[in-house]
Parts: sequence; structure tokens; C-alpha cells
Amino acid sequence: MSRKSIRAYDLPERVAAYDTDMELMHPNRSKMVQVALEVLPFHSDARLRALDLGVGTGYFAERFLEAFPQSSVHALDGARTMIDLAKARLGSRGKSVDFRVGDMRDLREHFAHVESFDVVYSSYALHHLTLDEKMSVVRAAVSLLRPGGWFVNADIVVADTSGVEKRIQEIRVNGIVERARGADPRFADYEATRRFLDELEANEGDQPLTLKDDLQVLREAGLGDVAVYWLEYREAVTGGRK
Ligand SMILES: C[S@@+](CC[C@H](N)C(=O)[O-])C[C@H]1O[C@@H](n2cnc3c(N)ncnc32)[C@H](O)[C@@H]1O
Repeated sequence: MSRKSIRAYDLPERVAAYDTDMELMHPNRSKMVQVALEVLPFHSDARLRALDLGVGTGYFAERFLEAFPQSSVHALDGARTMIDLAKARLGSRGKSVDFRVGDMRDLREHFAHVESFDVVYSSYALHHLTLDEKMSVVRAAVSLLRPGGWFVNADIVVADTSGVEKRIQEIRVNGIVERARGADPRFADYEATRRFLDELEANEGDQPLTLKDDLQVLREAGLGDVAVYWLEYREAVTGGRK
């Protein structure tokens, strides 16, 4: 599934529209990244070494380096096209980022040369993994963290029951149609938007877990103080400390 997810993001036309689409489809992204950054108990002058899982176009990496300007980021993504956009976004800040094209399911291989990380973070990427893959990726991430290091994840979840999921999806689709204001034919009305999202999610291999399962993954991977720091409908910021 995940190779399919990577291929879906390696298309120039998808990437060109990516950040505008994120504004429409995930208006909480900024808030979620803000919360994830606030959770990290480090001084802004700290020289942190961070790992970004699924860096995409570099939104979180840019915000991380704004919050911790003395820090460095190792940024992993399977899609070279996304990494090219991240480099463009980061401009001169890119000198603090070591970009790597690769599959996060081989995490330990990619970072065997790095001593350890103070922070591992991710946004909107881990839901492309199956439960078993997520378990193994988060375990590998925890093994790369130094004792006392932090893992934070801003991502989508699925509801515990189909009734709740149905209502949350209705709220989601109505929100997108309202924000698009008829200016984008993909989101002209409820039906068109639903069709677009169904195709997109099938194409990208989305497979979000319930919040309960996500928290269990973090605990089983060896994190302590596992918590939900922010939640709205189908989006959550979770994390824990090694
Ligand atoms: C929805 S984007 C999120 C990007 C960015 N973190 C953000 O918040 O905008 C998901 C990213 O995860 C990457 N991805 C998905 N599965 C992956 C895998 N197994 N290994 C590496 N990258 C993967 C995709 O290529 C894509 O860039």
C-alpha cells in the first residue's frame, strides 16, 4: 500500500496543487503543527537533531526550524518530487536539512549513520501505513530516539464506529465545499467533493487507524507519557517521550 502512496505523491501535477489543496482539505494543519511544536519541551536555542517522517513539501520542517533555528532536520520521503518542493520552500533554511529519498519502512537502514535524534515528528504521513507497518516504523523511530527524546505525530484518524465516521465525513465534506466557494470544480458541491476524496484516498492508499489504536502503537513501540494533545473530528496530534 505504501509504495502506492509514494507513487501518488511523485507526480508533478499532484505536487503543484498539494499545498493549496492542503489549505482546503486540512485547514487545521497550521494549528496541529503549532501544537506539536509547543509540546516539545526544549528551549528555542536548543541544538536539536530531528527526524521528519514523510517530509512532503517541507511545511512542518520549515515551522520546526523557525521554532528551533539552531537545530537540524533529517527529512525522509519516498517521493523525490515532494522533496524538490520542500527544498524550494526552505530556501536558505535548507542548509540545516539533510534530505533523503527513501521508504520509511526501512527507517533504521536510512539512519544507521546518525547517532540519535532528540525529536522524531511527522504530519499527515503515517496514515499511509498498515497497522503492522506503523508499529514497525514507530518502533524503529523510538529506537533512533535518545532517552528523553520526543515523538510527535499530527495525522488523521478514523472513528470507532461507522455512525460517528459517517457524521464526521459529512462535516468534513461540507467544510471543504464551503471553503472552496464554488471556485474549484472538484469541490463544486457535496457529491463532486465526495467523489474526488474517495478517488484520492483510494489512489494514495489512506488507511488511518482509530485514535485508540494509534495510541496503542506509540505505547507498544516503547514510548511513555503517551497522550493526545489536540483532537478535532478526524485529526489528532499525539505523542510520547522515550
Ligand atoms: C500527505 S503527505 C504529507 C507531507 C507533509 N508531512 C505535510 O504535512 O504536508 C504524505 C507524504 O508521505 C510520503 N510517504 C507515504 N508513504 C511513505 C513511505 N512509506 N516512506 C516514505 N514516504 C512516504 C508521501 O510521499 C508524501 O510526501
